[in-house]
Amino acid sequence: MLPLLAINAIAMMTGSLGLWLFAASSPQLTAHVAFALGIMPLILAAVIYFVPVLTRGSGAPRWFVILPIAAWAGGLFINAAFALALPAASHVAVHLAALLASVAALTLLVWIARRAGRTLGKPHPGLHWYLAALFFLSAGLLIVPAMSLWPEHRAALRLIHLHANLLGFVGLTAIGTLQVLLPTAVGHADKAAVSRLTQDLKFAVTGAALIATGAAWSAPLAIIGAILFLIPLVRMGSRWAAVFFDQIGRLHGAAASLSLACFGLVGMIFAGFGHASAYLEGRAAVTGFILSVLLPLVTGAATQLLPVWLRPGRQEVWHDRLRETLGRWSGLRALLLVAGGLAVAFGRNEGLWLAAAGILMFAAALLTSARLWRHS
Ligand code: HEM
Repeated sequence: MLPLLAINAIAMMTGSLGLWLFAASSPQLTAHVAFALGIMPLILAAVIYFVPVLTRGSGAPRWFVILPIAAWAGGLFINAAFALALPAASHVAVHLAALLASVAALTLLVWIARRAGRTLGKPHPGLHWYLAALFFLSAGLLIVPAMSLWPEHRAALRLIHLHANLLGFVGLTAIGTLQVLLPTAVGHADKAAVSRLTQDLKFAVTGAALIATGAAWSAPLAIIGAILFLIPLVRMGSRWAAVFFDQIGRLHGAAASLSLACFGLVGMIFAGFGHASAYLEGRAAVTGFILSVLLPLVTGAATQLLPVWLRPGRQEVWHDRLRETLGRWSGLRALLLVAGGLAVAFGRNEGLWLAAAGILMFAAALLTSARLWRHS
């Protein structure tokens, strides 16, 4: 399921950019093809995979496979609603979409909270990042029916929904996962990661909450939130630069891509300062976020994890070869994605072509890997 959802997410992000470039479709549709049909189900499945590791407990219940599928079905309904230009505030398809996705998110939220309580000893602090991320997703989704209950506040509620989802849900999952995944990718433990995860959650949560509410009602509040949100990112990035500089500066391998995703997220917060003060266009940031954060993050994570997901158990030469093939030129392709995405977020749409080159490079790596997979 996870490999399928990872490929699905990359395909949906690429499809969303294609819609943006060639089909002049609505911004709502391009956003939700990438986020609701691609990223949301992938993150839910990844959380189901990582939580047993973080709690040192048994695997998730088998029936949990339906949760990412329910979220994906929600993504299908909301995209159908946008594609058919149904009234976004009130149509039954929109509410059904929000219901399906929020049931999946809330089920996971309750499950993680209960497992955290039952873990022997202290659970890994990464668990609280997932809890907080799911809280933001659930809140963002519960705001959807509120848009039709209070149409006069629709514009503000839309801004809360999108910032809660992008920074609260995606941002927190990304930071929480990267703190552990990047050291794994470079092959060295980061002894400070646990204390950073423990200390920095309050900054990330308060930051995301202030950005979401500030975007709706008070720009200065949003700017304070953005400064707080930068704290965990800067602390994580500067630690990596000090300890893993050699590995993250390489042209090949997952680590370069993962560290550039962190850089992309910092860049997007700066783009946020720009659109909060009306110097930049807010919508460009949505496309910029897909290109400069999500694509390097998901392609980097797929490089590191696809081999394990495809063949769990003992790690053999096959795993190393597949990882090496997926990670070939990973540093360069992530650089193209991040540079392209930041260019778009800062008002230069030509950046999209740079990012398109990065996507093509990953597609080539995938095709080569598929050959390796077939012949093994
Ligand atoms: C199935 C779940 C979802 C539903 C039902 C939903 C619903 C909506 C609705 C009704 C709007 C307002 C559209 C308008 O302006 O009229 C909206 C906007 C938005 N949502 Fe969602 N959403 C979902 C999931 C997500 C997720 C997971 C993300 C991000 C991770 C996201 C990001 C956004 C963005 C960026 C916008 C603004 C799009 C634009 O106007 O440019 N949504 N959503």
